[in-house]
Amino acid sequence: MIQGDRRLRVQALENLADTFNLLRASHGDTLSARADTPGRLSPMTSSASLTGRVALVTGASRGIGAAIARALDAAGARVLLAARDAEMLASVAAELSHDPATLPVDLAEAGAASDLARRALEASGGRLDVLVNNAAYARRVTLADTDADLIDQVLAVDVRAPLLLVRGVEEALAASGHGSVVNITSVSGLVGTPRRAIYGASKAALDSITRSLALDLGPRGIRVNAVAPGVVDTDLWAKNKLVPEAVRSTTAITPLRRWAQPPDVADVVAWLAGDASRFVTAETIAADGGMTRTTDLYGGDV
Ligand SMILES: NC(=O)c1ccc[n+]([C@@H]2O[C@H](COP(=O)([O-])OP(=O)(O)OC[C@H]3O[C@@H](n4cnc5c(N)ncnc54)[C@H](OP(=O)(O)O)[C@@H]3O)[C@@H](O)[C@H]2O)c1
Repeated sequence: MIQGDRRLRVQALENLADTFNLLRASHGDTLSARADTPGRLSPMTSSASLTGRVALVTGASRGIGAAIARALDAAGARVLLAARDAEMLASVAAELSHDPATLPVDLAEAGAASDLARRALEASGGRLDVLVNNAAYARRVTLADTDADLIDQVLAVDVRAPLLLVRGVEEALAASGHGSVVNITSVSGLVGTPRRAIYGASKAALDSITRSLALDLGPRGIRVNAVAPGVVDTDLWAKNKLVPEAVRSTTAITPLRRWAQPPDVADVVAWLAGDASRFVTAETIAADGGMTRTTDLYGGDV
């Protein structure tokens, strides 16, 4: 008799699970998080799922941005890809499954960020859940080569554009009920790195913007975080990659003893974009294999 009761209970639970899975398949994410209850999730939430959500990723034509576009698409999001090179954008978009759109833009130009925000919302019918500010002008220059024009160009792409993009899509992110902004900064904004005075300053500024906007936009249900990569195997390191000593020294200061691949960063971004990180805001997460948190005080086994 007791065994019969247990069987019935198990059967009832299985039926409930089937019903839930059916509902979930037909209604997607609307079951997980309601737009009218920011931050409140039902127990059915799938932490990895971005099904039905729309994400705008800048600098998505290659490197880390392309990996972010792939990761968000794999989680179910519709991705809008922005960068200057239309052909490269199209080739990344061709790999994606959820009706991607490409938005060629030069974020160094005045007015480009606000214009991109407008075009993105036009392309998505006014919906936006995730904004990833990844594009950057990542110049390594000596102090002697740092002039006023260069400073303006770096700040235009790395600071002005991300800030104005958030401004341009704020209403849509608030309406989403689970808006998430992820800014890609750098270890160069956390510690001093060689020939990176203006680039490092731009990334430290973006970390600061992250914290201020988290405060300003949190009450509207919008989270704002940053991911600070260390050494990632992209075009930015193409020259260093050819110099064995450069590879050896950057690997040696990394506790995990390797360079990151773009998906190592993209997966952290996907986590911050979705509901698994729903109570995380104003954070900069270093995805750097531990390099900025450590120093090899004793020089090995000595
Ligand atoms: N790689 C690393 O080790 C590393 C380390 C720390 C931080 N980061 C940060 O990670 C992000 C991505 O770096 P990455 O290594 O992937 O760099 P990357 O391979 O040079 O890619 C940069 C991306 O930004 C776009 N971009 C550059 N200038 C632009 C502009 N004016 N307007 C629009 N798009 C522009 C580029 O596309 P187009 O050329 O087509 O415009 C490209 O898609 C950057 O924020 C960088 O600072 C990288």
